[in-house]
Amino acid sequence: MMDPHKIVPADPARNELMQPRDGTDIDRYLEQLHADFDPVYSMLMDYQCAVMEVETKFNILNSRLSIQGERNPIESIKSRVKALDSIIRKLQKLGLPISLDSVEKNLRDVAGVRVVCSFIDDLYQIEECFLAQEDVKLIQRKDYIQNPKPSGYRSLHLIVSTPIYTENGKKDMFVEVQMRTIAMDFWASLEHKLRYKKDLDPETARQLASELEACAEESARLDQKMLQIRNRLQMER
Ligand code: GTP
Ligand code: MG
Repeated sequence: MMDPHKIVPADPARNELMQPRDGTDIDRYLEQLHADFDPVYSMLMDYQCAVMEVETKFNILNSRLSIQGERNPIESIKSRVKALDSIIRKLQKLGLPISLDSVEKNLRDVAGVRVVCSFIDDLYQIEECFLAQEDVKLIQRKDYIQNPKPSGYRSLHLIVSTPIYTENGKKDMFVEVQMRTIAMDFWASLEHKLRYKKDLDPETARQLASELEACAEESARLDQKMLQIRNRLQMER
């Protein structure tokens, strides 16, 4: 066990990487470091801003709709900017040029926002309000709730383009929005574990996939049932 109170020496490999080579002028070294890192950093920052803009839109919709319905239709929002490694691996896998321009032109899931709701009808209502906004342009819509994937996966996927405002002006950014119920989210996170477990024997993998598919069906029925109960409760008031 590592003693947390002990001062751990710096990783020599890390230090080595950041050391200017012998005889290197420190100003030139920093210049080079900035020339290499700044454009990448700036691009990732653009995506981070797009994520913040979209997240704010959903937070605002949640607050406003909660006045009407006396409840918060959104259960949680999770966002991420795709890791640089995953960005580069995806470009390579697709046989696309590996450059910043290529990322912005070809990838539409670098900025990702996942909106989780309790009830399916809230999910579609929020989608409608979101897409009605002037600065949200729908690029692609895939409804895996109406048309589940063979795996059993259910979610509503939107690719939108939305502006961010930088020091150099307005810039349109792609954002992938995944909308799902709590039950769909629960299912997807377990199925994701199976998907990325590479050392399973094929028979076990097939069996688990089939059990998961059955779970997805059951879970969808539960979503419907809960919605019916909530609707009846609302009528009773
Ligand atoms: P990517 O190139 O992987 O982004 O796929 P795509 O452009 O064909 O889009 P698609 O709508 O199929 O999936 C996008 C994202 O949805 C994935 O990156 C996952 O986060 C999620 N997803 C899609 N299918 C599944 C699935 O069967 N199981 C799980 N757990 N997640 C899925
Ligand atoms: Mg993706």
